[in-house]
Amino acid sequence: YEWNEIALNLAKDIEREIMPLFGTKKAGEFIGFSPSGDKTKFVDKIAEDIVLEYLKPLGVNIISEEIGSIDTGSEYSVIVDPIDGSFNFIHGIPIFGFSFAVFKEKKPVYSMLYEFIPKNVYEGIPGEGAYLNGDRIRVKTLNEKSISISFYTRRRGAKLVEKVRRTRVLGAIAIELGYLARGSLDGVVDIRNYVRPTDIAAGYIIAKEAGAIITDDSGKEIRFDLSASEKLNIIAVNDKRLLKLILEEI
Ligand code: IPD
Ligand code: CA
Ligand code: CA
Repeated sequence: YEWNEIALNLAKDIEREIMPLFGTKKAGEFIGFSPSGDKTKFVDKIAEDIVLEYLKPLGVNIISEEIGSIDTGSEYSVIVDPIDGSFNFIHGIPIFGFSFAVFKEKKPVYSMLYEFIPKNVYEGIPGEGAYLNGDRIRVKTLNEKSISISFYTRRRGAKLVEKVRRTRVLGAIAIELGYLARGSLDGVVDIRNYVRPTDIAAGYIIAKEAGAIITDDSGKEIRFDLSASEKLNIIAVNDKRLLKLILEEI
């Protein structure tokens, strides 16, 4: 399989179909409930139908946010979020993306994030590196006096905001992991026990290849199933000193 070609064609097809709906009421029409209990909106359905049209003929296992799992018995599994950041899309906030990750048996083999508005292509090639539009990317060097993180919490560890210079909550965690990978943020933290493997699989591979440390809320290397419904906590950072600071606060 030429995964990069498949992913890019898919991203461009989704882009063509969904962008006319950006910021419209139509995009937000309720369709049904996803396996994790989230609402599927019209735009999610449009995007996912394109994903299925592409991937079904390949005969691979598919795990996608709105439909859940299609198990074909293939050694390959593609875990997709057709649109991460649907709320943003529907409400005209320009931060949302397409998340695509491929595993052979349980091992990652390729991942792509496509950020529609700036047309950024992030790729993670396990063992090789992370790329933004073809150029190698790395997490940034931590400056402890000027830490910026994306931080999702309900209440737990809320004082962490006092320990960092900047917090950003952008509403598309896949893309936020891309920002960590390219050195725009020092960390991405979600301790609501809410994100699913479909949200983070591609971003996880990309951030990891860019040098990030990615753990659960106890500081252990994060583990997740190839599932659309498992609920997770995630701490992804550029430096173990930041991990320590976060673990002390939460
Ligand atoms: C959402 C985004 C958001 C996160 C939510 C997810 P969706 O995904 O990743 O950043 O906070 O937990 O549900 O629903 O827009 O694909
Ligand atoms: Ca998502
Ligand atoms: Ca989604």
